[in-house]
Amino acid sequence: MPVQAATRIDRKPYGKTASGEAVELFTLSRAGAPTVEITNWGGYLVSIVAPDRAGKAADVTLGYADLAGYLADTSYFGCLVGRYANRIGKAAFSLDGKRYALSANNGPNTLHGGPTGFCHRLWAAKVVSGKDGDALELSYVSRDGEEGYPGTLTATVVCSLREDGSLMLDYKATSDAPTVVNLTNHAYFNLAGEGEGTILDHVLQLESDSFTPVDATLIPTGELQPVAGTPFDFRKPTPIGARIDAADEQIRRGGGYDHNFVVRGTPGELRMAARVVDEKSGRVLEVLTTEPGVQFYTGNFLDGKVKGKSGKPYVKRGAFCLETQHYPDSPNQPGFPSVVLRPGQVYRHTTVYRLSVAK
Ligand code: BGC
Repeated sequence: MPVQAATRIDRKPYGKTASGEAVELFTLSRAGAPTVEITNWGGYLVSIVAPDRAGKAADVTLGYADLAGYLADTSYFGCLVGRYANRIGKAAFSLDGKRYALSANNGPNTLHGGPTGFCHRLWAAKVVSGKDGDALELSYVSRDGEEGYPGTLTATVVCSLREDGSLMLDYKATSDAPTVVNLTNHAYFNLAGEGEGTILDHVLQLESDSFTPVDATLIPTGELQPVAGTPFDFRKPTPIGARIDAADEQIRRGGGYDHNFVVRGTPGELRMAARVVDEKSGRVLEVLTTEPGVQFYTGNFLDGKVKGKSGKPYVKRGAFCLETQHYPDSPNQPGFPSVVLRPGQVYRHTTVYRLSVAK
């Protein structure tokens, strides 16, 4: 491969954390690929700039204009979520007969790793080189007992731009004692551009025949419910807004879509999970993953109060998230794929975001 076609990473200072640690911003660029910015504060995906059908570039992810915005963020606009992405019911779980108490930060439950999860930590950053040129390696060591979780967990995420222009996140984690782990990225996408209204007319296809229905606090009941005949059936391309306010108990509980879908196929194999098309701009996003599930969240809690990186309000349903993951509350759900990581084992997760333009 010619050298100039490979990914190049530029790094620059991005400010300081409250305790004075230096934060950096990394820009990944490659011919034919969107330009991607990532910071080592919380591993936030700061921007993804991609052309529309006419070749006009726009940033398709929500975020803030500067580090101060990310330091104060409560919406998880593109960060690396851990130690356990999404919810753990009643902020507790048992492992090998021992009960672990976590901090509740979402009603009675723990959400996204607790009040000071991986999104609110400084990750170590290294530019490494591989077959696609430069890649960004972010790592974070979560101490034994942090946020209530057992075991020292070392998490590494390698971010790279592939030859086909897609962004790949390769996650790995190990622990020195039995623990639970579930890592994801929480990017909010609007394919028309961040702050450009709602995503209700984006057309979604999900490779899912079932989803995990939830109780009133958004904890899975443990069942897998077939999507057939429900507003959760995205097996054929369907506008996100078509049934988002349907008279349906699950829709009501989520305030729209805020549910984990079971990705068809074999976990561990990289396979298509979702495809989203914005017919106006022509931009298409495909999400491929090795994970068993994906949380489809339609920004139901956005309310226009946050003005994003270019000053436009982030309105309700102004973005969608496709958080590739293990099912929520798996530590308390013996029927769900296991999230237990033991010493000597390696947690692995690969997710690919592929942006293109519809023909
Ligand atoms: C959750 C939502 C939550 C959002 C932002 C999603 O993963 O399922 O309920 O509001 O993250 O925190």
